[in-house]
Amino acid sequence: MNETKKTQRRYDRFARVYDLFELPLERLSFAKIRRKTLSPLKGKVLEIGVGTGKNLPYYNWENIDYTGIDFSKKMLERAKRKNFPKAKMIYMDAQNIDFKENNFDYIVTTFVLCSIPDPIKALKEMQRLIKKDGKVIMIEHVRSKNFLLAFWQDIHNPLTKFFFGANINRDTKQNIEKAGLIITKDQALAFGDVLRLFEARKGD
Ligand SMILES: C[S@@+](CC[C@H](N)C(=O)[O-])C[C@H]1O[C@@H](n2cnc3c(N)ncnc32)[C@H](O)[C@@H]1O
Repeated sequence: MNETKKTQRRYDRFARVYDLFELPLERLSFAKIRRKTLSPLKGKVLEIGVGTGKNLPYYNWENIDYTGIDFSKKMLERAKRKNFPKAKMIYMDAQNIDFKENNFDYIVTTFVLCSIPDPIKALKEMQRLIKKDGKVIMIEHVRSKNFLLAFWQDIHNPLTKFFFGANINRDTKQNIEKAGLIITKDQALAFGDVLRLFEARKGD
C-alpha cells in the first residue's frame, strides 16, 4: 500500500475520536489562534485538509466564498455534520488539486503539512492556485531548532506517524521555499519554536 493510501486510512480511523482527542489543546490555545488568524479573511478561500472542520466556526461567513478539501472521507463526513451550509466540501487529494491556477485569495492549512505524504507536491499546488496578490496561511508544527527537542521529535516521529498520520519533525519552512512560495511571515505561536504561523505569497 502506498503512503497516500496509508495516511488516508489512518485519518479514516482517527476521525471518530479526533475532536475529543484534541479538545484540551483546543481549549488551551488552538481555538484562539484559529479565530485570530481566520476571522479577518475575505474573498475566495481554499482550505486544504479541512479534517473534521475545526476551523469552520472561526471564519466570517459573510465575507468568504469557501471550499474545503480533504482526502479522508470519514474526516470530511464529520466536517459536513458541523453544518455550515455555505461551505463547499470536496473529497480531493492536496497533492493533485483539480482547480484552475490563480484562483484563490487565500489558501489555508492548519496542522496539515505534517501529514501530507508529499508536502512539497501539495505546496507546489498551492503556489499554482494562489492569486498573484493572494496569501497562503499555514499554522503548522515543525522540527525545533533546539537540538534536544529536535532529537526528541526525531525518535518519537515513527510513533506519531503510525498512530495519527502526523510527522512531528518536518522542516516545513524549507518545504514551503522548495515549492517556490515566498515566505512573508514566520512567527512562533506556541511550544517554543515548534508551532508556527507561516504566511506566503506566490513566487515569481
Ligand atoms: C491533523 S488533521 C488537521 C485537520 C484540520 N485542519 C485541523 O486543523 O484540525 C490533518 C488532515 O489533513 C488531511 N490530509 C492529509 N493529507 C492530505 C492530502 N494529501 N490531501 C487532502 N487532505 C489531506 C487528513 O485527512 C486530515 O484530515
